Amino acid sequence: MARMPDDPAPLTPWTDHFDHESLEVLRAALDHLETCFESVAPAKPAQLNEPARQMLFEVAGRLAENFPYFHPLYAGQMLKPPHPVARTAYALAMWLNPNNHALDGGRASSAMEKDAVAQLAEMFRWPAHLGHLTSGGTMANLEALWIAGLEREGGTILASSQAHYTHSRISEVLRLKFESVPTDTRGRMDLAALEARLARGGVGTVVATMGTTALGAVDPLDSILALRERHGFRVHADAAFGGYFALVESLGPEARLAFDALAAVDSLVIDPHKHGLQPYGCGCVLFRDPGVGRYYRHDSPYTYFSSGDLHLGEISLECSRPGAAAVALWATQQVLPLERKGRFSSDLARGHKAAGELHRRLAAGRRWIVGPQPELDIVTWAAKAATAEESSRLARRVFDEAARDGLHLALAELPAAWFGFAPGPDRRETVTCLRSVLMKPEHLEWLDRIGEKLAAAAERVFGRE
Ligand SMILES: Cc1ncc(COP(=O)(O)O)c(C=O)c1O
Repeated sequence: MARMPDDPAPLTPWTDHFDHESLEVLRAALDHLETCFESVAPAKPAQLNEPARQMLFEVAGRLAENFPYFHPLYAGQMLKPPHPVARTAYALAMWLNPNNHALDGGRASSAMEKDAVAQLAEMFRWPAHLGHLTSGGTMANLEALWIAGLEREGGTILASSQAHYTHSRISEVLRLKFESVPTDTRGRMDLAALEARLARGGVGTVVATMGTTALGAVDPLDSILALRERHGFRVHADAAFGGYFALVESLGPEARLAFDALAAVDSLVIDPHKHGLQPYGCGCVLFRDPGVGRYYRHDSPYTYFSSGDLHLGEISLECSRPGAAAVALWATQQVLPLERKGRFSSDLARGHKAAGELHRRLAAGRRWIVGPQPELDIVTWAAKAATAEESSRLARRVFDEAARDGLHLALAELPAAWFGFAPGPDRRETVTCLRSVLMKPEHLEWLDRIGEKLAAAAERVFGRE
């Protein structure tokens, strides 16, 4: 629990967990920002009063009830700490709290959003684009499927059975027809099944997932695009999780082909708040044809008159949006450019390497049945057992034991057949697996510690090998 300010106990010395230096830089940058507004008549700002100060310590105490997401031994869900420059730029912008709807609500931050989004489009080698930031991947996919529904009226949306649940739900919201396509045993959209479905007709859009949520599997986008030639559907890429891996050179050949094909999709979603080192509240939707802007046209008698330039509210479904998210993303991309040979991509490659290495070590042990070879940075594995039920029980116990010892993993429900389990007496078709998203570059150095803690947890559950 956090210490209250009047607590007589000595301060716990700072550990290396949190970066405190950026607070000093924030202070100096804030002073600089303030001097830029010198010509404005002084007006007393709101300050933290005593109850508000006390409240912050109570907040710290409440926040301590979280898992330590910032730490490499948090190797569970998709959670990655924002880069210090993102966190600090976001905080700095908060003293102005711009709104990237109309230009007069967020002049500088709208310009930064346009730049940052253009850099994302460039990363996929798009010659032209229309796009903007969103509150996250769900909202970005909603916009993409909304436009897809308008461009292919009455057409069915297809996504794989391992695609994020958001696609079927969004289709429901938008009243679009939706069907799911089976996957192969690696969790990638099954091309034969897709082709069979296309032959029956009526498909408007195929969603290719570039890094599924459970496995990080990459749908064979290059082959899906080849089918588009024959069947004329629209292609949307959900690269919310995996999009930045377009920059990583060490991917396997199939994933490489799929990522290179992103240059030719109709729309794409990428989440800077997943692998892009941003605080939550930062997704992005991109359309290759800027002409789809016509669908966004709406009458707003009270906003867009301050300038003839594009107001981002004219091309976005959400009205108010945080300018701070754009400031943070822009600053991050200046410091860590989206290049194939740079710090940003080499850090992603470390996660990919860590996942490959953990997969290799688990496969070499005798307790586990490993899931597919990681295409990105997610590893899944099931406990060896006679049945899927028993394996699932063991996985849950290992998950709890590991967490008690400070190693935080995740669980996933995957087809039991992938792990060689026949459907059990209760006809259970899935097995609960352990899952780890190794998305922090430090995970590579921490792999031995992760392995030791996992082995110790397994020993407590299964007994000594
Ligand atoms: C592939 C994929 N698409 C979409 C989403 C939804 O994104 P968000 O949680 O930012 O709304 C996720 C989230 O994990 C995802 O993995």
